[in-house]
Amino acid sequence: MPSISSRASAIQPSRTIAFNQRARELKAAGQDIIDLTVGEPDFRPPAAVLEAAAAAVLKGADRYTPVAGLPELRRAAADMYRQYKGLDYAPEQLVVSCGAKNGIANAMLALVNPGDEVIVPLPAWPTYTEMARLAGGTPVTTPSDAATGYKLDPERLRAALGPKSRLLVVGTPSNPTGAVYTLAELEALARVLEAFPDVWILSDEVYSRIRYVPEVPSPAAIPSLKDRCVIIDGLSKSHAMTGWRIGFSAAPASVTAACVAIQGQTVTCAPGISQLAGLAALTGDQSPVDAMVAAYTKRRSDFITSLRSVPGFIVPQPDGAFYAWPDVTGLFGLSWKGRPLENVDDVALFLLEEALVALVPGSAFGDPASLRFSFAASDALLASAANRIHEAAASLHDR
Ligand SMILES: Cc1ncc(COP(=O)(O)O)c(C=O)c1O
Repeated sequence: MPSISSRASAIQPSRTIAFNQRARELKAAGQDIIDLTVGEPDFRPPAAVLEAAAAAVLKGADRYTPVAGLPELRRAAADMYRQYKGLDYAPEQLVVSCGAKNGIANAMLALVNPGDEVIVPLPAWPTYTEMARLAGGTPVTTPSDAATGYKLDPERLRAALGPKSRLLVVGTPSNPTGAVYTLAELEALARVLEAFPDVWILSDEVYSRIRYVPEVPSPAAIPSLKDRCVIIDGLSKSHAMTGWRIGFSAAPASVTAACVAIQGQTVTCAPGISQLAGLAALTGDQSPVDAMVAAYTKRRSDFITSLRSVPGFIVPQPDGAFYAWPDVTGLFGLSWKGRPLENVDDVALFLLEEALVALVPGSAFGDPASLRFSFAASDALLASAANRIHEAAASLHDR
């Protein structure tokens, strides 16, 4: 059989999906698994979104739209960037894509040449490195830990930058850690970037509405960076619209034009029905979003409090997104049914099999110390998951 491309062989399948798949298999085999693997809101989209989609179906909005999206949705997205991020973009600088992921793919393909280096601060959503590889680039990862709040600091950025650097990826709030960069932290990074004027910044802000701090500053708010930024957002998380596939990117006009050209030759456009639903999401009453964020805020507080009392867990407070990110190195060296816990994969497997709680080990995000639990699940499920984790942890013993 002829071989697949070197591009395709170079990328890793999603380990989050692999852990979710394992949880599904155990569930299908009759195990009572609590699945906290996937980053998907457990809410329905706002009612107005569903109604707008139904009306769009009936009125026959099932045709291609302009490649960059319906003009009224691009306007609404530009308004959203202004209102929630304080960023001024003309609607013509916005592209509507099939989810934020498609916007990130367009941007990587538009900006990265074969051999270019893409700096990805870890821990990070694994798609960034794989997408960089798909674009022919070389991911350059740089670790961080609790000491820097799991954020890139100027020293590490300086060490990662070199003549081949082309793009820096920033995720704020971060998946998996929930870290949010302050404006001062972004300004410190901007000062380092001044010496590297050919480096673009891709800021993934898809979780920015789900935050527990007053604001999520964007690197594009820094005047010296604005013309070097692509700002990604979308409706999957904010409006619980994962399957509707609506994402946005905002960028300087030349980058927007390149992204539109790529999108026009790949997916053509985001689905028209979803675009009209997305318009309703952005222009309608925002109280359903506030209600979801209020629910996440309560879960964050309750779930993190209970995880903090598990011996061996050190649990930071996330500033955004809906993940708990405990450092579990305190469990390394303990044993379970004669099996040693030596790394985060062992701990994830232990919790899956012994506590019947599915989660993703930090290794999937380039981190050797932590686990990621999604708290986009009901209060009852989270309480039960925490109880099970306590019981399982109590069964651990010294080797
Ligand atoms: C950090 C991050 N960016 C982007 C996405 C993709 O969002 P979308 O569903 O809009 O493609 C996800 C989804 O999990 C994510 O966690």
